[in-house]
Amino acid sequence: MINGEKRIGRPLRWAMIGGGRHSQVGYKHRTGALRDNTAFQLVAGAFDIDPERGKDFGVNLGVAEERCYPNYQSMFRNEAEREDGIEVVTIATPNGTHYEITMAALAAGLHVICEKPLTFTTAEAEEIQAFAEKQGKIVGVTYGYSGNILLLQMRAMIAQGKIGDIRMVELQYTHGFAATDENDRKSEGQKWRVDPKIAGPSFVLGDLATHTYYMSQLIMPQMKISKLLCDRQSFVGSRAPLEDNAYVMMHYENGAVGRMWTSAVNAGCMDGQRIRIVGSKASLEWWDSKPNELLYEVQGQPSQTLVRGMDYLDETVNAYERLAALHQEGLSDAWANLYLNIAIAIDAKERGDEETLNKLIYADINAGVEGVRWVETCVRSAENGSVWVNFDAGVPVTS
Ligand code: NAI
Repeated sequence: MINGEKRIGRPLRWAMIGGGRHSQVGYKHRTGALRDNTAFQLVAGAFDIDPERGKDFGVNLGVAEERCYPNYQSMFRNEAEREDGIEVVTIATPNGTHYEITMAALAAGLHVICEKPLTFTTAEAEEIQAFAEKQGKIVGVTYGYSGNILLLQMRAMIAQGKIGDIRMVELQYTHGFAATDENDRKSEGQKWRVDPKIAGPSFVLGDLATHTYYMSQLIMPQMKISKLLCDRQSFVGSRAPLEDNAYVMMHYENGAVGRMWTSAVNAGCMDGQRIRIVGSKASLEWWDSKPNELLYEVQGQPSQTLVRGMDYLDETVNAYERLAALHQEGLSDAWANLYLNIAIAIDAKERGDEETLNKLIYADINAGVEGVRWVETCVRSAENGSVWVNFDAGVPVTS
């Protein structure tokens, strides 16, 4: 159970780049990082592309005025000269800046927490991976809901053989908020999402599906994709070549098959992240709109709903329980778990504690690279006419 007591020696001195007043995601980072007050301390930031607005915002968050910087370059320079300078930085800016800022942060000797998708290309993501290794730093990636503890229950039950051999993997992350092009013109956060120069080679595959793909890996670490086929559409034509809807079919090395449906044009859908894993004996299903419940359906028996906070859950799950049964947890708690694990990883890395690092389940640099590789392979399949593409080699399957 988590009750806010410290898990590392002292809070890490933390800064944010982006995540400013009007950003979509900034507050989620702060609720996650500052939840327990014992893991991170927000001491500096370059919060906004507009320096004045960023400073005003930072001061309102309680950050000292002289540590609200106009850009990340001056923050890295000035903080490096302070004895109490920052140790870790979150990058919550649009996708096109992630590679450059992450590399600069690692060069400045900082641990990094970066938004997804980590980069545009696998080559860039692997460069970050190699540089982080060289610098001895952690790079965590914020797949938000991956901190939901019932995903750990799915992982434990699958490992214990509770559903038998995995046969089908059904993944979905859809919403309807971009069903028309209205927000492409009005909302700053949506404008860049459909601009390949800033968003990268995809819209919904990178924006939405990478979350669910990582969560499927967290649940089924043993499952490796052998090949995939992606069929993507731009129903709002002005978004082409970026897709606002995509279907991805996947074959796994163990013979299982899977599908991902991702969409921003699922009109009327308010919130739709779903994971259903079908085994030879039973199935498990989780929806983000019911984050406290896990459906367990054994063939031939009445279906069961496993509820968060109960003793019958695996001990790995209840180690992250925050509120106890009867009280509902949600996205903010998932983010808090995500950030707590990254703090523990940074602390362990600094102490050379490999045992702790190997045991921790969180979205590390490998998850960042894997997410980018998945999106890149999907785009390659779609651009070749929606053909099967070998996952590791990234080339169309010819036989
Ligand atoms: P947004 O456009 O709403 O906000 C971006 C923020 O970054 C703004 O405050 C802007 O002023 C600031 N900014 C932009 N360039 C900057 C720079 N060079 N230096 C300092 N600040 C800068 O974007 P949104 O939706 O917040 O997305 C940001 C990132 O977070 C994206 O990579 C996106 O994919 C990801 N995201 C992740 C979510 C999750 O659940 N993990 C949810 C939403 C977004």
